[in-house]
Amino acid sequence: MSTVSSPGTPEGMPPHPEDGTRRSFMKQAGGLLGLALAPPLVAQAERLTAFSNNIQGATDITLRVNGQARLLRVEPRVTLLDALRERLDLTGTKKGCDQGQCGACTVLVEGQRINSCLALAVMQQGKEITTIEGLATGDELHPMQAAFIKHDGFQCGYCTPGQILSAVACVSEGHATTDDQAREWMSGNLCRCGAYPNILAAVRDVAAHSAQG
Ligand code: FES
Ligand code: FES
Repeated sequence: MSTVSSPGTPEGMPPHPEDGTRRSFMKQAGGLLGLALAPPLVAQAERLTAFSNNIQGATDITLRVNGQARLLRVEPRVTLLDALRERLDLTGTKKGCDQGQCGACTVLVEGQRINSCLALAVMQQGKEITTIEGLATGDELHPMQAAFIKHDGFQCGYCTPGQILSAVACVSEGHATTDDQAREWMSGNLCRCGAYPNILAAVRDVAAHSAQG
């Protein structure tokens, strides 16, 4: 019975040595290639997990959240959202889709709004992170929090922390100067209760006052 040699292994030659270095390199390269070729329909969170599964081991990191340095030990695949909620007990940041589609998990990093479900915690070291818990000054609400209450900008409130943080950034970016513009730049934050008219009123109210001030 004839034998078939495996591709790339000439007849009579020993197979290539499979030392750990080569194997782990191929594993990493394969993971990166898979990540690059993954179709856009694959959830970003799955893509991150696929990548980080190739890098193992927990790491000690320090996150600067709401003005405080917080030390925690996380695996590289842990998202910023899970680090905030499950390791630091900052449950004001909500998990909706966990796929970058609803905006419930919005936080500010260096003043920029991001979906924390799409960000790895280990990549946020040294950056200033603001969650809904850090927006008020003592007992004094942030103007955007006060405006949401004034304009009844929430019903169940699940989307509200993300909406408020996104709204704060939207105004500071200068993207809330008209109703249409504010709607467009807030469109990454979904509200299942449909509180959009009241959310818009709150955003425009704060934008108008900040323009005057
Ligand atoms: S939970 Fe992050 S965008 Fe939906
Ligand atoms: S207030 Fe219920 S999801 Fe927005």
